[in-house]
Amino acid sequence: MSNTFGKNIQVQIFGESHGPAIGCAIDGLPAGFRVDLKALQCFLDLRAPGHSPLATQRKEADRPEFLAGIREDGTLTGATLCAIIRNHDQHSTDYEKIQDCPRPGHADYTAFLRYHGNNDIRGGGMFSGRLTAPLCIAGGISLQLLENKGVIINSSISEIAGVPNPDDEATATAILKARDDGDSVGGVVECTAAGFPAGLGNPRFDGLKNRLAQVIFGIPAVVGLEFGDGFGAARHRGSENNDVYEIATDGTVRTKTNHCGGILGGISTGMPIVLRVAFKPTPSIALEQKTISLSRHENTTLKITGRHDPCIVPRALPVVTSAVALVLLDFLSEKQSIANC
Ligand SMILES: Cc1cc2nc3c(=O)[nH]c(=O)nc-3n(C[C@H](O)[C@H](O)[C@H](O)COP(=O)(O)O)c2cc1C
Repeated sequence: MSNTFGKNIQVQIFGESHGPAIGCAIDGLPAGFRVDLKALQCFLDLRAPGHSPLATQRKEADRPEFLAGIREDGTLTGATLCAIIRNHDQHSTDYEKIQDCPRPGHADYTAFLRYHGNNDIRGGGMFSGRLTAPLCIAGGISLQLLENKGVIINSSISEIAGVPNPDDEATATAILKARDDGDSVGGVVECTAAGFPAGLGNPRFDGLKNRLAQVIFGIPAVVGLEFGDGFGAARHRGSENNDVYEIATDGTVRTKTNHCGGILGGISTGMPIVLRVAFKPTPSIALEQKTISLSRHENTTLKITGRHDPCIVPRALPVVTSAVALVLLDFLSEKQSIANC
């Protein structure tokens, strides 16, 4: 069931990069809520390809077609919401060589083993970053439902190619330099969710961190995740790392600092949930690379000719936001269903 996640809000993602369409089915959304369809499209545009020299030049409008679960004015009906995005700008011949010569760093070889060579290799098939578009449909709707409950989620670039807190110019310079070198770069996305109530989550194997990690690691090219100070906390003393409590002027309990990133024991503290997601450099690069021929069982080289993102990070911002929104909405819905018992 690796294409499905969620307990109260269940999401299934389907499709392949060069098939007729990709899409999602979302179960558990509240009937009567009116989705702002214009705002949803603006959110999807943040991820859509072909809008920037920093991204792949594949041109896709990424306009969702809703098959069920939502009226024309955006009102949710309570039925499973089903949306598709038709694929238009495929160049499938770019992938003929890859069928035999797996790209280093991509899932071509492992998918070949797992699916005995039957998987659709074109555009990366089901492993393509393109499958994050339907995740953003589900995430964009969740974001609006959360905003309605006072939970605000924001993602930003905290590192590109080893440069911390880059501004737009530094980001563009690093990415265009890599592209011009026929190469790619990675980076880190920081996501903050403010306004999420305290006391939600579970201990041990089903906590907030666990479920966030499950969905975030479902985003292709994610190689690391830390909450709060993360790996940095391992280098601090307890006296530095502990977030001491205080009663705020409005009478609420809060902590003076937020080194833990808003989660303790798998349960929310009420402080902002803060996490950072590391993305590896895009595996498909223009430089010639060593690989193997699967049919001839010999060493060979590969020059990838398709259109690729020289850096995944800018397009991944709404994807990380979506993953976090869906998990938080799932927990919030759990609370509401328990309260209704
Ligand atoms: C938004 C987005 C865009 C991506 N674009 C590309 C791309 O243009 N070329 C590529 O080789 N990989 C791209 N990827 C990454 C691959 O899909 C990913 O590395 C591959 O499926 C292997 O999975 P893994 O890196 O998680 O192991 C993209 C990922 C995301 C999230």
